[in-house]
Amino acid sequence: MALVTVAELACAAAEGGYAVGAFNLNNMEILQAVIAAAEEERSPVILQASQGGLKYAGIDYIVAMARVAAEKASVPVALNLDHGTSFEQAMQCIRKGFSAVMIDGSRLPLEDNITLVKRVVDVAHAVGVSVEAELGKIGGTEDDIVVSEREAMMTEPEEAAEFIEAAQPDLLAVAIGTAHGVYKGKPKLDFERLMEIKARVDIPLVLHGASGVPDQAIRKACQIGISKINIDTELRVAFSGAVQRTLKASPDEIDPRKILGPAREAMKQVVREKMRLFGCSGKA
Ligand code: G3H
Ligand code: ZN
Repeated sequence: MALVTVAELACAAAEGGYAVGAFNLNNMEILQAVIAAAEEERSPVILQASQGGLKYAGIDYIVAMARVAAEKASVPVALNLDHGTSFEQAMQCIRKGFSAVMIDGSRLPLEDNITLVKRVVDVAHAVGVSVEAELGKIGGTEDDIVVSEREAMMTEPEEAAEFIEAAQPDLLAVAIGTAHGVYKGKPKLDFERLMEIKARVDIPLVLHGASGVPDQAIRKACQIGISKINIDTELRVAFSGAVQRTLKASPDEIDPRKILGPAREAMKQVVREKMRLFGCSGKA
């Protein structure tokens, strides 16, 4: 199958009352873990590349890996740019073969965020690529993007409606209390705010910073109307934990396959659990 758009998967999820998982792609082991989980769970899936992922693997390897995965997979696969920083970067990803882009103008004043998103939307839609935007500011650290607790800002429901009307994105990432990276305390999600946004907005909503959010809160977010959920940190934790365990048990091991194989398996288990939690298992 060719890569499908994120909008296609998220709209089906919004209609079906579940969320599709989006997992950050940095190397072959992550790719194989995510795709194997999606096949075993019969789930649609979103692969995405962050700024760090693009720098580490290179855009051509990211696209080639995702294309091979989509062609071989029996479930729908999308490839999304995660937290795209500029119009130029979004265009480059579209030209290289991404089926979706996120353009993150959340650091900009509202008017500038609208202008940037609309500019990307006009081109992306002309070539069948979907666009995710962000309003409010999600806290925490994801690769090069660092937003302190003081800078983080919740999404205003009224503003969200105006923003979508003006910028026309296909999906909206909302700031409702989650943060990127490992949580220090227990995250507290503002479900009232999510309900108010949902009531005013008719495009699929996205939850970033979902690693470490308790299962019950994720279920509630899906019930209210989150249709795409991003996971990166929990894959990192599973990967590094497995590598550490392997090397502790066999400090003289030099075969990368014996070191990375268990890490791939550990990540696959995390993805399978998330797919069941998000309700996208069995939806392919
Ligand atoms: O864009 C990527 C995700 O929002 C990652 O969130 O750090 O909680 O896994 P996470
Ligand atoms: Zn994010």
